[in-house]
Amino acid sequence: TRANKLVIGNWKMNGSMESNHALLDGVLVGLEQAGCKAVVAVCSPFPYLAQVAGLLKGTAVSWGAQDVSAHGQGAYTGEVSAAMLSEFGCRWAIVGHSERRAMHQESAQLVADKAEAAATVGLTPVFCVGETLAEREADRVQSVIAAQLAPLFAKGDDLVARTVVAYEPVWAIGTGKTASPEQAQQVHGFIRAQLPASAKSIPLLYGGSVKPDNAATLFAMDDIDGGLIGGAALVAKDFVAIAAA
Ligand code: G3H
Repeated sequence: TRANKLVIGNWKMNGSMESNHALLDGVLVGLEQAGCKAVVAVCSPFPYLAQVAGLLKGTAVSWGAQDVSAHGQGAYTGEVSAAMLSEFGCRWAIVGHSERRAMHQESAQLVADKAEAAATVGLTPVFCVGETLAEREADRVQSVIAAQLAPLFAKGDDLVARTVVAYEPVWAIGTGKTASPEQAQQVHGFIRAQLPASAKSIPLLYGGSVKPDNAATLFAMDDIDGGLIGGAALVAKDFVAIAAA
């Protein structure tokens, strides 16, 4: 049996001290009023993690980073290690977001190494996969996703069992085009079938233009255990509505 729904907000490169404070106040009050049962987390830019940790202290909402280094420590200018994040109470680390794979040339192997680095210190990697529109049109969805997952699977079942996988079709990210619940379920079912036996029940999140008006039908699908929310996570009432769905 799988746990409660999991809804993670990915703020991407947005926010300010002032807007973060207002957003989290709105989210905390809203979740309380909605009697939300989902597990909820937010991933802010690195400079705001300490602020976010402070604002969320003592609440049920946890926080994570949008990326993490694959390395433990040393001469890696600009990188942040999983151990550093963990020291401050970080719970999650997004790895392999399509924006990083595309804009920062992150390879499937590097993404798997990052997941391993995160899990080694007790963070839960949120491992993103997804195809582009051209790949979908060429009927390559399953092979693309299998190739993205392969280096993770190669690291062993224990790591997979401690991972959350987020399916984010690139063509649905920030575009207002959501995968239909059936399209998403088809890929989620495929991912579930690929998982090793000991990791069959890990959460599989959907991401890509999740909004208050489509969240409930997506989350009702058999293999969709929650969402990774971009744009709508920046609007307190929308993020709360999605978490309550
Ligand atoms: O990580 C979140 C996803 O990239 C989805 O972003 O909800 O703005 O489409 P979006």
